[in-house]
Amino acid sequence: MYSDKIEQLIAKKNKEKIVMLTCYDYSFAHILNETAIDAVLVGDSLANVVLGLDRTKSLSFREMHAHTKAVSRAVHRALVIADMPYCAYQRNPGKAYEYARKLIDDAGAHAVKLEWFSRCPQVAEQLVRKQIPVMGHIGLTPQTVDKLGGFKVQGKDLQSARRLKEQARILEDLGVFAIVFECIPQEVTQTLTRAVKIPTIGIGSGKWCDGQILVLYDLLGIYPGRRPKFVKTFENLDVRIQQAVAEYVKEVKGLSFPGEEHSFLLNPEILQKIQKYL
Ligand code: KIV
Repeated sequence: MYSDKIEQLIAKKNKEKIVMLTCYDYSFAHILNETAIDAVLVGDSLANVVLGLDRTKSLSFREMHAHTKAVSRAVHRALVIADMPYCAYQRNPGKAYEYARKLIDDAGAHAVKLEWFSRCPQVAEQLVRKQIPVMGHIGLTPQTVDKLGGFKVQGKDLQSARRLKEQARILEDLGVFAIVFECIPQEVTQTLTRAVKIPTIGIGSGKWCDGQILVLYDLLGIYPGRRPKFVKTFENLDVRIQQAVAEYVKEVKGLSFPGEEHSFLLNPEILQKIQKYL
């Protein structure tokens, strides 16, 4: 029913951890393509980390489409999943199929991701029925963060943990191929991961999920905004970039860059003519 790439991802449940990262542009996608990453999410965190907006809800479809296309051009091995922007399904669920189709047929994604909201089951059902592979996303869902009372851990009491279990089961029954769990206590994700047959991918949800995802710019330490507790910065690339730029400034001001090896030189005959007649 699914493509080979999706079947391979599903087959990793209970065998090996699934590793995912977000990615938003061609150059980073090219780098990730040379790594062992299983799947790349063109996340709507694009709104925050690339476009400097304060809410993912503000992302336009055109922006998501363009960035998905850029990432798909470079990622050939891993699965590419495009986040559906809020405007493409929550604002108008009737348009969800049309937008999802564009992200797959035109922008090159293999699947789309939907955050949970009141009409998520209807949208997921429609997309799956029409052969669009869907990844779900429950727990802290930033597109509807106002309804959750802010950026807070979800599933901290019996009632809300039960709600999450119900959402995970509904999504599984509808045929989504995996679910992102965001900011859920690890004891709850352990139970929920056992309760569904499809892979669960955690962010801020502990070690029991079938896989993990992080925002690439958080892992590399280049996003200047809020850094939640669950983020591990594996590299301080911001400092290394600043050092490289400081070196560049020094060389330009000190006249050591560009050198001849970075310049185009004329052949001496033409040079003579140019010096005479130009
Ligand atoms: O957009 C994003 O970065 C996400 C991840 C946090 C899962 O949805």
